[in-house]
Amino acid sequence: MSQVYVSQHPLVQHKLTLLRDKHTDSKKFRELVKEIAIFMAYEATADLQVEPVTVETPVAPAQGFRLKENIGLVPILRAGLGFVAGVWEMMPSAEVWHIGLFRDEKTLRPVEYYNKLPVRPTVDVCLVLDPMLATGGSAIATVDILKKWGAGRIKFMGLIAAPEGLERFTAAHPDVPVYLAAIDDHLNETAYIVPGLGDAGDRQFGTA
Ligand code: PRP
Ligand code: URA
Repeated sequence: MSQVYVSQHPLVQHKLTLLRDKHTDSKKFRELVKEIAIFMAYEATADLQVEPVTVETPVAPAQGFRLKENIGLVPILRAGLGFVAGVWEMMPSAEVWHIGLFRDEKTLRPVEYYNKLPVRPTVDVCLVLDPMLATGGSAIATVDILKKWGAGRIKFMGLIAAPEGLERFTAAHPDVPVYLAAIDDHLNETAYIVPGLGDAGDRQFGTA
């Protein structure tokens, strides 16, 4: 059974509302995506495993913990790149493996154009990053790729999902927890999320 977590953090909700606003320009949009990613990474990584470690403070040895698992950030190009900026700041030792997919606007099916994953998995946990889960096609295809690669634990982190796409995703990958900032109302006739925030890639990269 999939676990779907929708952030209730007031700052996430505040920043998401600014992000949705059509008057928010690209520079501000990128800043907000990065800031929200930091809050969401906090929630999405709460169950990472740690191991005990001892360090020397200037005063005495101190018992502490360090991350036991290797983390892989998997942004779906293009829009997932904005998420990397925030999450990577929190986990600078994470590996970043880009997956290039675009949604064919006629068939609405994801088309793969970039994948440089090495032959064998190099990470224990993959955090798939894409702000928008609309029909769910891109997210499902990316997790399919990672599972074929042999990835162990996979998590999905996004901003906004449409109920239709979320249902498809959780049916296809019930073992993958989903972290979101909002679940919106529906998809429109061109499979855009309503109310959503428009085209996340175009708004980040100023290509609308
Ligand atoms: C957007 C978004 C997701 C996808 C979601 O990417 O970033 O990857 O659409 O739609 P889906 O759930 O119906 O697959 P887009 O194809 O616009 O590419 P871009 O990020 O390069 O603009
Ligand atoms: N991709 C986006 O960027 N926005 C949507 O609403 C749907 C797909």
